[in-house]
Amino acid sequence: MSATARPQVSALSSSRIRDIANAGMGRTDISAFWFGEGDEVTPLFIREAAQKALSEGETFYVHNLGLPELRNAIAAYESKLQNIVSKPEQIAVTGSGVSALMIANQLIVSPGDKVVVVTPIWPNIAEAPRLLGAEVTRFALTVSNGKWSLDLDRFLDILTADTRMVIINAPNNPTGFTLDQHVQKTILDHCRKLGIWVLTDEVYERLIFDGSAAAPSMLRNATPEDRIIRVNSFSKSWRMTGWRLGWLTLPLALMPDVPKVIEYNTSCAPSFIQKGGQAALNDPRGEETIAALKSGLAASRETLNSGLAQMGRIENPDADGAMYAFFRIEGAPDDMETARTLVADYGLGLAPGSAFGPEGAGWLRWCFAAPPNKIADGLERLERFIKR
Ligand SMILES: Cc1ncc(COP(=O)(O)O)c(C=O)c1O
Repeated sequence: MSATARPQVSALSSSRIRDIANAGMGRTDISAFWFGEGDEVTPLFIREAAQKALSEGETFYVHNLGLPELRNAIAAYESKLQNIVSKPEQIAVTGSGVSALMIANQLIVSPGDKVVVVTPIWPNIAEAPRLLGAEVTRFALTVSNGKWSLDLDRFLDILTADTRMVIINAPNNPTGFTLDQHVQKTILDHCRKLGIWVLTDEVYERLIFDGSAAAPSMLRNATPEDRIIRVNSFSKSWRMTGWRLGWLTLPLALMPDVPKVIEYNTSCAPSFIQKGGQAALNDPRGEETIAALKSGLAASRETLNSGLAQMGRIENPDADGAMYAFFRIEGAPDDMETARTLVADYGLGLAPGSAFGPEGAGWLRWCFAAPPNKIADGLERLERFIKR
């Protein structure tokens, strides 16, 4: 008998972004935009809060659900931001958004369950239920009038009574697609009627470019009894990717089971890391960080979108949120080949669209969390490729 993993593990896709990025690793001449993070370090006041906790000896196990002070801070933060009533007892702190997603899946999904995922999508979202043996049905966004959009009637048609859970990520990675509150309400009403769980990944809620403080949360339309779980993270809003800190907002009825699942994953998020998260939420410099991040992203987004528009042979649908352009180049239908050539011959690192599922084939993702001058340099490289 061979020493191999169970079939669900062997069936997981490996990361196509990694396939491209690994080819460029170690080269100093690459202008890289393939990963979903910026170049800037976490703000000092957040690092100092964690350092202080470490210096004071916060090196012990803490509560499965997180430090009470942090759960209070998260509930207050999201209640104010989204104009909802979120209670500390509904919050579970997790060791990253990725872990929050997996824990939510472990709470709800059994082998054989039907899980519907809106695509193209950041791979972890579709792979987590598959790892648990669920059957994942993909529902593709389409481009209409220069924007990614969801065909609501067709979508509701596939959310049938035998669906255990639907997973939606908006603002979306990779397309930047966002959901308006009316559509959210229609989806939630439908799921409520059929008893379908809704898992809403809102880690990009602050990265929205219409002037509002946050993209609307699905929780705005929810009642306390609803089967809805929200995933969030400190990574994107406060530039804390390497910290691995996130949270879940869950229905109260689910809470007795949540500590058990966290116990068998990580037991708890590290205490000193949580202190960094607490500073991000409680210190006024947290909101200043987000404001600066957003204005930097808005400038880079403008540079990128106008540069792509000027090149002519590019289709780049408008994206309301997140930090990516998801575009395609006329005459370059194979995204893996294009991404490989861009790295090898032009030193430009982009993520291939098929990393986000078959619906993304032919597209490329460019993370614009970079200064405008770096974006401009990348645009020059792309232009050379297009004019080759
Ligand atoms: C849609 C989405 N959800 C969740 C995450 C997870 O973030 P983290 O694990 O860094 O908290 C990411 C990271 O790229 C993401 O794009």
